Amino acid sequence: MTIIVTGGAGFIGSNFVFHMLKAHPEYRIVCVDKLTYAGNLSTLESVMENPNFRFVKLDICDREGVDKLFAEENPDIVVNFAAESHVDRSIENPEIFLQTNIIGTSVMMDASRKYNVKRYHQVSTDEVYGDLPLDRPDLFFTEETPIHTSSPYSSSKAGADLLVLAYHRTFGLPVTISRCSNNYGPYHFPEKLIPLMIANALADKPLPVYGKGENVRDWLYVEDHCKAIDLIIHNGKVGEVYNVGGHNEMANIDIVKLICKELGKPESLITYVTDRKGHDMRYAIDPTKIHNELGWLPETKFADGIKKTIQWYLDNEKWWKDIISGEYQNYYEKMYSNR
Ligand code: NAD
Ligand code: TYD
Repeated sequence: MTIIVTGGAGFIGSNFVFHMLKAHPEYRIVCVDKLTYAGNLSTLESVMENPNFRFVKLDICDREGVDKLFAEENPDIVVNFAAESHVDRSIENPEIFLQTNIIGTSVMMDASRKYNVKRYHQVSTDEVYGDLPLDRPDLFFTEETPIHTSSPYSSSKAGADLLVLAYHRTFGLPVTISRCSNNYGPYHFPEKLIPLMIANALADKPLPVYGKGENVRDWLYVEDHCKAIDLIIHNGKVGEVYNVGGHNEMANIDIVKLICKELGKPESLITYVTDRKGHDMRYAIDPTKIHNELGWLPETKFADGIKKTIQWYLDNEKWWKDIISGEYQNYYEKMYSNR
């Protein structure tokens, strides 16, 4: 079994590569990644020498390169994680989101059709459903919730999802889609809420909370997401969408306060800054379908997962300090100075 995993040098993709090599040591995993600002080859250091692993630096929009790789590898399964993934960046510059997230998806699916892959899996997000109001805790996203996006990021992911379903109906491509809630865990790029707050708190820098910090996200430990995708590619029904989430809703401000507490840092570091444009209020997944059909349940409780994650950032300072000392400095200045 050969699996092409795109975006495997990023946060969730790398965790998925580690999970698959461990759970299925007989599979060949071919990681395709352009190594954008978010991709980091040092993340994959521990598997580079594994004879069942191959890394290929490639843009998923590069039709010729993708075709050549499929001809070489003749993959059974394709799992597409590669994407521009940060909402704030999509507000600054939407175009690259359309390019990678939509055009890149079509290139990967065209190759999957031509080389008759047995399964094309699209890693999507709960953000395609838009948001829920804070005063309706009874409402959750199901797979039937209409697509209703807020940001250029979520719109590009929704566009890709529609294309994936269209390739299934029009060409019979054997597809599945997973729509997961916010992930956290090792190798999370420090522009995102949890790692950014850990890195800033450790440096005694201000903790920039958007708006009032009341927005709610449904957090899932990254390994649980990887296990869900493993189940879907093996046992999921072709043409179906699966929501993935762990009923673990938390307001941003409570997460930031928890990080302060765990690190022994004062809450006075918290600084309320101008809100994100179009900021989604609440995400909440109903995971009944994946539980009933595939037996998936999240295994890591947030209280344990956040401790493990903070410990990982303490033990792996070099990984994230190398990132925040480079080009990222300019990004941080641009996004947060005078905010
Ligand atoms: P990430 O930004 O950490 O990683 C993205 C990876 O894709 C990077 O390694 C990058 O180099 C690579 N990439 C970007 N453009 C590429 C291109 N044109 N060709 C090849 N590689 C390219 O993102 P992540 O948080 O790991 O998210 C992975 C996927 O999961 C995305 O599709 C995202 O929409 C989805 N998702 C993320 C979350 C979350 O909480 N992070 C939740 C649900 C779904
Ligand atoms: P983020 O990690 O960017 O994920 P997403 O927007 O895809 O859910 O942000 C999570 C939440 O944290 C979101 O409501 C925005 C908020 N946030 C802050 O308050 N401050 C920050 O510096 C960042 C990066 C995010």
